[in-house]
Amino acid sequence: MSGDLIAGKLGISRTAVWKCLKQLEELGYAFEKRKGTGYRLIATPDRLYPWEIERFLATSSLGREIVYRDSVDSTNALTFRLALEGCKEGTCVVAESQLAGRGRLDRQWHSPYAKNLYLSVVLRPRVSPARIYPLSFISSLAAFDTLVAAGVAPRLKWPNDVLVNNRKICGTLIELSVEADTVRFAVIGIGLNINMEKSDMDAALGEKATSLLMETKNFFERPPVCGILLGSLEKYYEIAGRQGMEEMCRLWEERAGVKGTYMEIRQMDRVYRGISEGIDRDGAMLLKENGVVTRVIAGDVLV
Ligand code: BTN
Repeated sequence: MSGDLIAGKLGISRTAVWKCLKQLEELGYAFEKRKGTGYRLIATPDRLYPWEIERFLATSSLGREIVYRDSVDSTNALTFRLALEGCKEGTCVVAESQLAGRGRLDRQWHSPYAKNLYLSVVLRPRVSPARIYPLSFISSLAAFDTLVAAGVAPRLKWPNDVLVNNRKICGTLIELSVEADTVRFAVIGIGLNINMEKSDMDAALGEKATSLLMETKNFFERPPVCGILLGSLEKYYEIAGRQGMEEMCRLWEERAGVKGTYMEIRQMDRVYRGISEGIDRDGAMLLKENGVVTRVIAGDVLV
């Protein structure tokens, strides 16, 4: 497209067009420039720029405001700060890397640069703190659907993990701001491993984690994956709003297929064992051992 045509379409000067193209080149875009013909886009950088994600976004609220960082302490931490300042519901933070990515139970979340998806979203649900927990299932359900769309066979692991071939491919972390008996906001953070390879991990993590690339041997462009994930997240958030948290639990239980399976769940000082009777309306796991049902609200599933 000729510089004149671009200038005309955008209603800006030729100099302004030239400056914009320079800026885009600094961001990693590449153009072929031919005298008399104009410019042709020949390469797009592998970055999660908001405008790249927006091309694949069909949501009405989630991700309509995207904050992008090359590097951040934790997308959850930044999103929490933005939510405290009053940002809109659906505001989303994405980063190429996290210096202090956090997981459940104070663990670290490995966040190599420009490989995966590190994303957090602000939700302002109308639900009491006591009933909020199953909201965290919307993220694992959304990740589940996104992974199916990417061509792998995921499995849900209680409470919030998604595995492929028994290795973790996605983890989610929900953090809340609560005032008296209302939830002011919830931040849902999702770490989805996309193009990470064994060489990006230490030996211990390499045994436990996987990515779309490792499973399929294909490289994935991250913006479309992010668009699909946000779309699924919005779909499940709407279902939660319309049909309530019980429906989230039902959907999660159905997808996870845990009912009737033997499970061991470790908490700090003990291990619960038993046959799963599914999850209750608050998302807690029900384990039956010797005829007694125990309600487990947190922990790591071992088997
Ligand atoms: C877990 O499985 O322990 C939860 C991991 C959650 C990781 C994501 S990455 C994006 C967001 N920002 C964080 O610091 N953590 C979550």
